[in-house]
Amino acid sequence: MRTTRREFFALSGAVALSADAAPAKAHFFTPFDPQARTLLATLSLDEKIGQMTQPDQLFLQSLDDIEKYHLGSLLSGGDSDPKTGNDLVSWTELYERYQKRALAAKRRIPLLYGIDAVHGNNNLIGAVCFPQNIGLGCTGNAKLVEQCARITALEMKACGVNWAFSPCLTAPQDIRWGRTYEGYSQDPAVIAPLGVAVTRGLQGKSLNDPLSVVGCAKHFAGDGGTFWGTGQPKGNGERYPLDQGDTRLDEATFRKLHLSQYIPSIRAGVGTIMPSYSSWNGIKCSANKRLLTEILKDEMGFEGFLISDYGALQQIPAANFKEQIAISINAGMDMVMVPEKYVDFFTLLKENVAENKVPMARIDDAVTRILRVKFAMGMMDPKTDLMSIPSATKAFGSAQHREVARQAVRESQVLLKNEKKTLPISRSAARIHVGGKCADDLGNQCGGWTITWQGQSGETTKGTTILAAMKKAISPSTQIRFAKDGAGAEGATIGVAIIGETPYAESAGDRVDLHLAPEDVAVVQNMKRAGIPVVAVIVSGRPMLIEPILDKVDAILASWLPGTEGDGVSDILFGAFKPSGKLSFTWPSGDSTSLHIGDPGYKTLFAMGHGLTY
Ligand code: BGC
Repeated sequence: MRTTRREFFALSGAVALSADAAPAKAHFFTPFDPQARTLLATLSLDEKIGQMTQPDQLFLQSLDDIEKYHLGSLLSGGDSDPKTGNDLVSWTELYERYQKRALAAKRRIPLLYGIDAVHGNNNLIGAVCFPQNIGLGCTGNAKLVEQCARITALEMKACGVNWAFSPCLTAPQDIRWGRTYEGYSQDPAVIAPLGVAVTRGLQGKSLNDPLSVVGCAKHFAGDGGTFWGTGQPKGNGERYPLDQGDTRLDEATFRKLHLSQYIPSIRAGVGTIMPSYSSWNGIKCSANKRLLTEILKDEMGFEGFLISDYGALQQIPAANFKEQIAISINAGMDMVMVPEKYVDFFTLLKENVAENKVPMARIDDAVTRILRVKFAMGMMDPKTDLMSIPSATKAFGSAQHREVARQAVRESQVLLKNEKKTLPISRSAARIHVGGKCADDLGNQCGGWTITWQGQSGETTKGTTILAAMKKAISPSTQIRFAKDGAGAEGATIGVAIIGETPYAESAGDRVDLHLAPEDVAVVQNMKRAGIPVVAVIVSGRPMLIEPILDKVDAILASWLPGTEGDGVSDILFGAFKPSGKLSFTWPSGDSTSLHIGDPGYKTLFAMGHGLTY
């Protein structure tokens, strides 16, 4: 049984969200300390530092560097595919080659291999891509979200990788931010239970199950609360408006909006947490001891380890890389994502220890935390199979997995407006005229973090576009005609304008203006001119400013970034399923003078929780 939005809000409200209250301690990792400490006692300083080092495989100079620098981890960032091709076999070979090399080293400490499996194992061609988090937030269905994450873990284990940089627990407060779609909601009370669901789905019933992967809650903390104009420098004297900026809030408000949602995931045993690139009141999170050590580890009782964001240490204000490293490790960072500069990191951290700039006790704490997680995952047991799992390989991209994604798509659709019962469309309507740049574009409906870091328009992976799905759903006598610009609608029974955004990720998605593009408005106008009812389907990573079409269209469906299974959208359009999604963000109106929630100039068009049905 799915939870209704009202029940969902009640449920999420019931999660203890007072970030002041120390969580009841659930010990997922400290029980492994005896083993972790025994191993730690035998490790040299070099070996300890190696455990704390995470290069991107793309920049690994030699396979033997795994042993030479005693590496504890590798990652594939958003564009770090195997050189041999982007397919399951190549990914499996890539992962297994590195893991086998680590296992052949003197110490035989396996690698954690991290990947941004944020809406499915989305770097791999052929993997199922679920709706991006903003859509999942509108389902209000934690059980379903858990199922999606379980499948993500299976599709990761299909090639062997064991660490997902997910769930993203950000609470975006300004939808002009390029990472808005990575957030489930603007409201921590909605985010919290979904973070638990993803943690459970990824990590399974037990972390040492071969089909479990470890999760990573990110970006701690306040990544979604940055203030306009404070974003990261572009290098040309300008700044991105929001991404990696500064969240300027007093501690009580910061705790409520940006920390509270982490507590339930910590209680559910999330193994790793990624500190944010952004700052809190001018201090980079990666450098903030109060935040990382006092609040997160000591007070909230986080027992896992912290992994820095990609090259994040290099943004800490300091004289040089060596000082940046000392500041961050002393603040509580345990493992460092140093995509390229892993040799420098290794050398400089060693120097810092030799010069007493980083105490040995801090190194030991960091490595104990990393080893704890590895022991909890069963990785240290020589009997554990650390390679790809054949049953998972078989199920990769399967019809069953796609069916779950399709259900998630259905439940994520939010019907914003529906006059004169325009929707659902009859399957046997004489002629349906479809237009818009997102109608027949798998890349657009998947968004960023799909195959490539930024995502890309076009047929980038396997799946069903919304148009292809509509064609499957109609009766034999029904005609569908498609014109990207919507022209030629005369004589059609109904027009469907499938419009919105093209893919982006992170800073590249920061926008000054969120109005629909002129070409999108033109699609609606071309259809309207034909004198037919028009439905707008908005494919986007956030609410858009839709006033230019609001009165011209008869129905509006917010589709978000539904992923590879366009059938789920078509199921709603034709009424095979009734819409049940509810807005997990407020939808602002175009005459707002600010889009930062809570600003006096923010005006609401549709309230959070809004969503019609048939
Ligand atoms: C992003 C993280 C991501 C990391 C690794 C960074 O640019 O901020 O969300 O996990 O890259 O790809």
